[in-house]
Amino acid sequence: MLVVLNHKMNFTLEEVRDYKKIIDQYKLKDIELVICPSLVYLPLFDTKNYNLGSQNVSCYENGSYTGEVSASQLKSLGVTYCLVGHSERRKYQNEDGLLLIEKIKRLLEVNITPILCIGETKEEKQDNKTNDVLKKEIDLLSSFSKEELSKIIIAYEPIWAIGTGLVPSKEEVMYSVKFIKDTLTNKYQVTPQVLYGGSINADNYNTFKNISNIDGLLVGGLSLKVEKLKQLFENE
Ligand code: PGA
Repeated sequence: MLVVLNHKMNFTLEEVRDYKKIIDQYKLKDIELVICPSLVYLPLFDTKNYNLGSQNVSCYENGSYTGEVSASQLKSLGVTYCLVGHSERRKYQNEDGLLLIEKIKRLLEVNITPILCIGETKEEKQDNKTNDVLKKEIDLLSSFSKEELSKIIIAYEPIWAIGTGLVPSKEEVMYSVKFIKDTLTNKYQVTPQVLYGGSINADNYNTFKNISNIDGLLVGGLSLKVEKLKQLFENE
């Protein structure tokens, strides 16, 4: 079970140092942990007990792109996973499908596992368009080879559930995860690992974790509560 902690744009240097002290004591049993701190803090984390993930990557290889961070730079810091297409980046940075494909290419070139985030808005859900939205995202992956596709992880993140405290039912998650897996299998003959993300908290963590067809969790708000996570992980 993969558990990806997305810190988003949180913590000062002092706070992140305190966080690290606690996370370094975690005793993980069946969890493969991925920590995605703010990019500036990546060098503070080591990779002994957990994996390092990035929240973003440039679509360019290297060179004169002020403010960008390349896949090979991430690689040199020990990063092995990277979020792509998180709904906050799509919304606030106007990231679109074509850009995301370029980012995934850069990551695969240096052997970093892309975690592609897909999911429907509240309106799309109300209009019964969830499957259409998911299918459209999956169709965008047609330029990748089977081998490349087998290295991409999908995170199913209903946009209406991110940071809102609202969550889909267990059945709804199972249904969408099955749809994602079946669609990729039928179209590309590749069955991806699929994570669930969106308002996972200490109370519902176990419910989501135990959904039979998911391969892991993508955690936002809860990832900042390092002591709570410690309890959850140690009670596995
Ligand atoms: P949340 O965020 O857990 O705070 O809803 C999830 C995410 O943005 O991936």
